[in-house]
Amino acid sequence: MALGLGVLRLAALVAALVFANAALAQGGAGHAGPVSALAAGDDTLVSGGFDGRVIVWDAQAQTARRVLRFHDGNVTAVAGLPSGDLITAGQDGRVAVWNRDGPAPAFVTRHGTSPVSALAVSADGVRIAVGFWDGTLAIHAADLTEIAVTQAHAGRVSGLAYLPTGDLVSVGADLRFTRWDATLAPQARAGLPDLPNGLARAGDRLAVIFAEGSLRLFSADGALLPERFLSERPLVAVAATPQTVAAAAVDGALWLLEADTLRFRAGIPAGSGPVWALALAGDVLYAGGATGAIRRFATGDGASLGDGLAVAADDFHDGSRGAEVYRACAICHSLKPGDHSRAGPSLHGIFDRPIASAPGYAFSPALSALGIVWTPQTVAELFEVGPDIYTPGSRMPDQRVADPADRQALVEFLERASR
Ligand code: HEC
Repeated sequence: MALGLGVLRLAALVAALVFANAALAQGGAGHAGPVSALAAGDDTLVSGGFDGRVIVWDAQAQTARRVLRFHDGNVTAVAGLPSGDLITAGQDGRVAVWNRDGPAPAFVTRHGTSPVSALAVSADGVRIAVGFWDGTLAIHAADLTEIAVTQAHAGRVSGLAYLPTGDLVSVGADLRFTRWDATLAPQARAGLPDLPNGLARAGDRLAVIFAEGSLRLFSADGALLPERFLSERPLVAVAATPQTVAAAAVDGALWLLEADTLRFRAGIPAGSGPVWALALAGDVLYAGGATGAIRRFATGDGASLGDGLAVAADDFHDGSRGAEVYRACAICHSLKPGDHSRAGPSLHGIFDRPIASAPGYAFSPALSALGIVWTPQTVAELFEVGPDIYTPGSRMPDQRVADPADRQALVEFLERASR
C-alpha cells in the first residue's frame, strides 16, 4: 500500500535546533533523539530523526521494519511515492529515493549548498519538489533528475504542497505565499501576515502555521480563509487531510481542528517536550516526540492510542554504556523469551546457540548453512565487519559498531540481559 500523498508536509524546523547536536534521548525509543520528520500511510509510518536515521514502521504491528541510514546530520523531511518508494531529505542538503526493499538509495542528489527544509510529491508521484533553507526551490523527476529550479524565496522555504491541479504552493521566510506551475512559473502571489513555519494541504486549501501561534487557511490563490490563534508559542508542525488539520506548538501542545472551518475538535496538552513532526493517516494522528518515541492519538477526540511506536529497551536499561549501544538493536530485537514480534528474532538466550536456531522465528535460509555459534566474540565480530560480510544473505540491515569499546560494552550487556 502506498503512503498517503500530498499532505506529507513534515516538521517545520527552527533554525537553532537544526544545527544543534541531537542530544541523546533518555529512555528507550526508536530514534536516539527527537523525531524530526514523519509520513504516514495506511499500513506504514516513516520517521526521520535528528539522529540521522530513517525508520520504516509497520503501523499495524507497531514494529520497525527497516532502518535506513544515508544522511549526515538530521533528517528534515520524509515522504512516500505511490509506488511504495520512499523519499528522504536532510540537513546535508541531499535527497534520496529508496525502493521498497533496497538497502541503499536507488537515486540520490549531490550534497546541497543548503539544508533541505521542505519536500512535496505530486499526486501522480511523477514530480518531487524540494525547498531549501537558502530559498531555492527545485522540481525533480522520480529518479531525481532536475526538471526546474528557481530562487523562490528570500530566506527559508518553510512549506511546500502540491495541489490536486498539479500546481505547487510554497511559503517562505520572506512572508510570501506563491503558487507555481510545473515549470516553476509563478501563477499567484500573496503576502503573509507573519513568519510561516509549515504548510499542509487540506483538500484544495492550504493550512499554514505561524511563529506567532496562529493557524490560517488559504485558497490556492493565497486568499485568507478562516484563521485560529492557538498558542502564545510558535507553531512548529502541521499535518492535514480534507477533514482534519493538526498542529503542534513548540512546547508540545497539540490541536485537532475541522479542516473546513478550523472549528476546535480536541486539544492535547503538552507532553514531554517539543513535537517537531506530525502525520495523519486514517483516524490516527502521529506525533513525533522529543525522546524519539512516536505517540498516537484518535483524530476524532484526541484520545491517546498509546506510545505504540516506541520500543521498551528500558526493560533492561541498566544505565550502562552497553545498554545505550543496544538501543539501536532494541527496535528490532526483544530480549523476552520467544518474543519475535519485532523485525528480528528475540535475542534471549543468544549465547552458545547456533545461528538461526531460535524456535518460532522464520530465519533466512542462507543463515543455517553458516555454522556460526553465537558467543560474545562472534557477536562482536558480527558488528565489527557488519552483517553483510559476516552473515551474507541476512535480512538484518548492514550496520557496524565501529568503536571496539562499544562492541565490548554491547556484548557484556547482552551477557547480562539475554539470560
Ligand atoms: C532493522 C532491524 C534490525 C536491527 C536494528 C538489528 N537487527 Fe539483528 N537481526 C535482524 C533480523 C531481521 C535478523 C534475522 C536475519 C535473517 O533471518 O536473515 C537479525 C539477526 C540477528 C542475530 C542472529 C540471531 C540468531 O539467532 O541467529 C543477532 C545475534 C543479531 N541480529 C544481533 C543484533 C544486534 C546486537 C543489533 C544491534 C547492534 C541488531 N541485531 C540490530 C534485524 C535487526
